[in-house]
Amino acid sequence: MSKSFERYLVTSALPYANGPVHIGHLAGVYIPSDIYVRYLRLRGRDVISVCGSDEHGVPITIKARKEGVTPQDVVDRYHEMIKRSFEGLGMSFDIYSRTSSATHAKTASDFFRKLYDDGKFIERTSEQFYDTEAQTFLADRYIVGTCPRCGNERAYGDQCEKCGSTLSPDELLDPRSAVSGSVPEKRSTKHWYLPLDKYEGFLREWILDGHKEWKSNVYGQCKSWLDGGLQPRAVSRDLEWGIPVPVKGAEGKVLYVWFDAPIGYISATKDLTPDWEKYWKDEGTKMVHFIGKDNIVFHCIVFPSMLRAHGEYILPENVPANEFLNLEGEKISTSRNWAVWLHEYLEDFPGKEDVLRYVLCANAPETKDNDFTWKDFQARNNNELVAVLGNFVNRALVLTHKYFDGVVPACGELTEYDLQTLRELAAVKEPLENEIENYRFREALREAMNIARLGNKYLADTEPWKLIKSDPERVKTILNIALQITANLSVAIEPFMPFSARKIVGMLQAGPFGWERLGASDLLAAGHRIGEAALLFEKIEDDAIQRQLDKLAAAKEANAMNEAAQHVAEQKESVSFDDFQKMDIRVSTILAAEKVAKTKKLLKLTVDTGIDKREIVSGIAEHYKPEELVGRQVLVLVNLEPRELKGILSRGMILMAEDVTGRLRLLQPDEKTVAGAVVG
Ligand code: 2FM
Ligand code: ZN
Repeated sequence: MSKSFERYLVTSALPYANGPVHIGHLAGVYIPSDIYVRYLRLRGRDVISVCGSDEHGVPITIKARKEGVTPQDVVDRYHEMIKRSFEGLGMSFDIYSRTSSATHAKTASDFFRKLYDDGKFIERTSEQFYDTEAQTFLADRYIVGTCPRCGNERAYGDQCEKCGSTLSPDELLDPRSAVSGSVPEKRSTKHWYLPLDKYEGFLREWILDGHKEWKSNVYGQCKSWLDGGLQPRAVSRDLEWGIPVPVKGAEGKVLYVWFDAPIGYISATKDLTPDWEKYWKDEGTKMVHFIGKDNIVFHCIVFPSMLRAHGEYILPENVPANEFLNLEGEKISTSRNWAVWLHEYLEDFPGKEDVLRYVLCANAPETKDNDFTWKDFQARNNNELVAVLGNFVNRALVLTHKYFDGVVPACGELTEYDLQTLRELAAVKEPLENEIENYRFREALREAMNIARLGNKYLADTEPWKLIKSDPERVKTILNIALQITANLSVAIEPFMPFSARKIVGMLQAGPFGWERLGASDLLAAGHRIGEAALLFEKIEDDAIQRQLDKLAAAKEANAMNEAAQHVAEQKESVSFDDFQKMDIRVSTILAAEKVAKTKKLLKLTVDTGIDKREIVSGIAEHYKPEELVGRQVLVLVNLEPRELKGILSRGMILMAEDVTGRLRLLQPDEKTVAGAVVG
């Protein structure tokens, strides 16, 4: 028997205010949490949904330093941006707060102080990296070096983004300061630690014995942390940006971001309601944390230990973390701009908020990492939203206007097929509820969409358009049923696609109907006049998809350039001026270009060197198409000894720039000049 609760407190991971939100965040955390809370509200439950920006931590100060602005400037910018884009997508948080608020500073500080006063911390002095040039300790991401596991030269002191390993600064090979680039030294510093090892027994019992129903990825990660043995964790840092450690002798030290961030859920609730304690301290509250898989340890091990140490707070009932969403087969990466950014999506696809919500839920990484592709996005829109949901609603409404002047016709005698359809309609509610309550939102969405499938099948089987002349009474019943199905859809899809649900309600000029009525076949009264039919969804054409793919291709290109720029080949040995003078380089015009048969890399070029017209074989076939070359001016080393290649006498060499990745680019005069002009 599952416990019954009086109220719900739903938290969604606080996004770092150092960059915009992308589809990975949405699919992992925010879409599921919004579905859940919308559903609970529809059911009339007492629920609050809290979120806000996570505004501390080293990545924010690094970004500020890079841009020459203050950390406050950075978080102000991204807080606003994230908040606005969440609103644009219909996220229905009751509060979107921020951890730089005064309420939060006091809440986090008091929390620390209570644990400190109750003797829950241990103090330790240890040797940590210190940048003598910048005169600062190097916490977490301020230290970079080579990953001991995969060799990535740009791993951070807390994590390697390439192989995903959790690291400590001491594990990095060749550690360097991310602030000045200098080699750091070790200096001793005092910090406060939460002795997680002391909470192991409690955690084992609470999670491993008490929460076997948690998702297997979450339960499994908790088990492996617990089986690996827990260590004391530092909850303070030597940094300037953050909440000062509220004890004497802690000057220059702030709370570790992962200590203060989850307390942000409490601060947000305080800012939302004076009744906040009811949600945080009463056992009748069901607290659910929506997070991504990289946050599991903090929400299942560290924060619960903090709450337990404090003693006044309830613990989460569930932590339904998702896995990761990839993009076009590659890991989403903020630094490599390999992402679909929410604010850009909202600009590029106005009015299509529900399409993104739908695709990210239908394809959510609930049990394993999943891939988002623009082709799949297009296909789901065109084949599912347009062809199934939109098509059904449109047909039901348009036919009602056509045959009955927009008035809901009365339902006559029901056939066995009608009854079966209505039974199937009524049967959706229970599994749909069950899937949502158990955090299986993909399945839940499928259940909701089944109502539209049912409707389409009903119209296709009953063919009212064929009966309208011969049996108009029967058509009345059919359309009454089709309209009841439509009204049901407005209820069932609301948690997933709130914009479309509202549109249906608007078109029906009736509702919202309330969750408890889901499955009923009398949502619309006979005689009720419905509104105009409008399209719920429209087809997404190839060119819109191509524009997105082009954006990604440009990001890839920019990454390759960045990568190449970091590995410039060393300077070669000096040469004398006389040696240089021996080379005869001329501006030449390419007259013709063709592939050399049976080779992948070679093109045969006919060039006008100004001296003569000659053939040159060049290894650029993988970088340029023959037709791109004809007419271009290039630089040619004309006195290179002729050489036979694949049976062709090549007389000279086309000069090109090559980066470490092997990418070739032609060199050309910045304005057209005469063939034969001497370079030197
Ligand atoms: O991983 C992240 O994006 C963190 N900012 C999540 C914090 S969740 C909570 F603890 F605040
Ligand atoms: Zn690594």
